[in-house]
Amino acid sequence: MTEFKKIASFRNAEEFREYARSIGAELDLVDEPRSGAESQFLTPCAYTSRITGKSATLASRWALLPMEGWDCLPNGAPSPEARRRWLRNAESGAGIFFGCEAVAVMESAKANARQMTLTQETVGEIARLREETVAHAADLFGSDRVPYMGLQLTHSGRFVKTPDDKRLNSHTAYEHPLLDKKFHCDASNVLSDGEVDEIVERFVEAGELAQEAGFDFVDIKCAHGYLGHEFLTAYDRPGKYGGSFENRTRFFRDIVESIKIAAPGLDIGTRLSLGDLIPFEKGPDGVGRPMAWDFDRDGAYPYAFNGDGTGLGVDPEMKELLEFVGLLDELGVTLIGATFGSPYYNPHTQRPAAFAVSDGYLPPEDPLLGVSRQLKTVRALKERRPNLFLIGSGYSYLQEFLPQVGEWVLETGGADMIGLGRSILSYPQMASDYLAGRPLEKRRICRTFGDCTNAPRAGLVSGCYPLDEFYRGREEATLLKEIKNLAKNQS
Ligand SMILES: Cc1cc2nc3c(=O)[nH]c(=O)nc-3n(C[C@H](O)[C@H](O)[C@H](O)COP(=O)(O)O)c2cc1C
Ligand code: SF4
Repeated sequence: MTEFKKIASFRNAEEFREYARSIGAELDLVDEPRSGAESQFLTPCAYTSRITGKSATLASRWALLPMEGWDCLPNGAPSPEARRRWLRNAESGAGIFFGCEAVAVMESAKANARQMTLTQETVGEIARLREETVAHAADLFGSDRVPYMGLQLTHSGRFVKTPDDKRLNSHTAYEHPLLDKKFHCDASNVLSDGEVDEIVERFVEAGELAQEAGFDFVDIKCAHGYLGHEFLTAYDRPGKYGGSFENRTRFFRDIVESIKIAAPGLDIGTRLSLGDLIPFEKGPDGVGRPMAWDFDRDGAYPYAFNGDGTGLGVDPEMKELLEFVGLLDELGVTLIGATFGSPYYNPHTQRPAAFAVSDGYLPPEDPLLGVSRQLKTVRALKERRPNLFLIGSGYSYLQEFLPQVGEWVLETGGADMIGLGRSILSYPQMASDYLAGRPLEKRRICRTFGDCTNAPRAGLVSGCYPLDEFYRGREEATLLKEIKNLAKNQS
């Protein structure tokens, strides 16, 4: 098992810095928290969309990352729980809500039976929720400091669940030698070109509905092993959606080009896994290890987007990423919610954590190295393409040092905004407390326990069960404990 020091054990920035250096984590932090004009989070932040030509002045350089609750009504409309999440998020003082949460573009695209779904039937309720959220932010911070609001549109591809939420009902882009084995798929799961054409149409309709609902932008998800991401490595797929760069990006390009026509005035961004590694699995000691790949026979591992061929590293020249970013530039898409890997097959890269999630493994590296990998990749892209507006991710593991590392990243030009994922579930006011110079409430800081991931994997609503009393008191909390005990006894 990888030994690592707990973040909460560092008494000050110097101890944190020394430890980070000792393990080779390429990150730093400012010595003390900052507030007001001193803080990088409050430096003027303007974003101009190349798609709409409109400029937005953002309230702060905190961004909210999309965080699903898997707590909607059966038709995909927001539930009271979803409303609570969105209104609490409005208390963050964030400048952008990058997608709010993954919203399925059709019933058969859902990763969970209770995922939010954007249809003619649900658009009115989603519009009302957006309005209430913006109004709540305006009440708290002023009408000139409301967030730039996006909605993440997604098809869950390989991770679609059956309507009863019991099993995967994968729709894949291509036959993947490792992921098919891990998630029990085969050729019968691969979508036909006709089916892909139809999914593109659903994305475009959802874009129109998002505009009707008043969102500033849609985020076309190309991340985490979901369908949009999988197409980027569909080298082996025959036909118009696979093989060449032009074909592998056709899915994304057709969606963006068609939304531009169908919903003029709507901005478009993308949640993009800037890099990926080979899928990992739980080893006999419970620690994650890369799935076996016969390099002698098969040569380089080709299916990690922007990988270096070893399955374990990022291409130092970022060839694939830069090629894709060149396409984004042509399309006018410069708003990017950076992320990495997948929560399903290499979660330590995507959401670095001290604890294993129920269907995952113990960390194979110090989680600080996972944070460092994401920060470094975003910085490398920002250096090469400064015109992109990049939102960093994977910061929650930094806990009480998160804002100070964020200050350093912003000060040194490593990103345009700092994204908050899990930390927003446990402590939505963390960013606004920091901006106002109030001390952080330590007992509410996310400690990366993973229950917000364990719950939906067991078909329960997601939320911060350990630290948010709203979830702690629910019957799902008892169920979750039983499910985790059962899993522990079986392993
Ligand atoms: C419960 C949960 C739900 C999430 N939902 C989404 C989602 O809907 N869309 C998305 O792109 N990422 C989603 N993510 C990933 C986060 O946006 C973020 O990338 C990740 O948690 C790492 O950031 P953090 O370290 O701040 O948590 C989710 C993560 C968790 C734990
Ligand atoms: S359940 Fe709460 S503490 Fe645990 S990872 Fe999720 S947000 Fe963090």
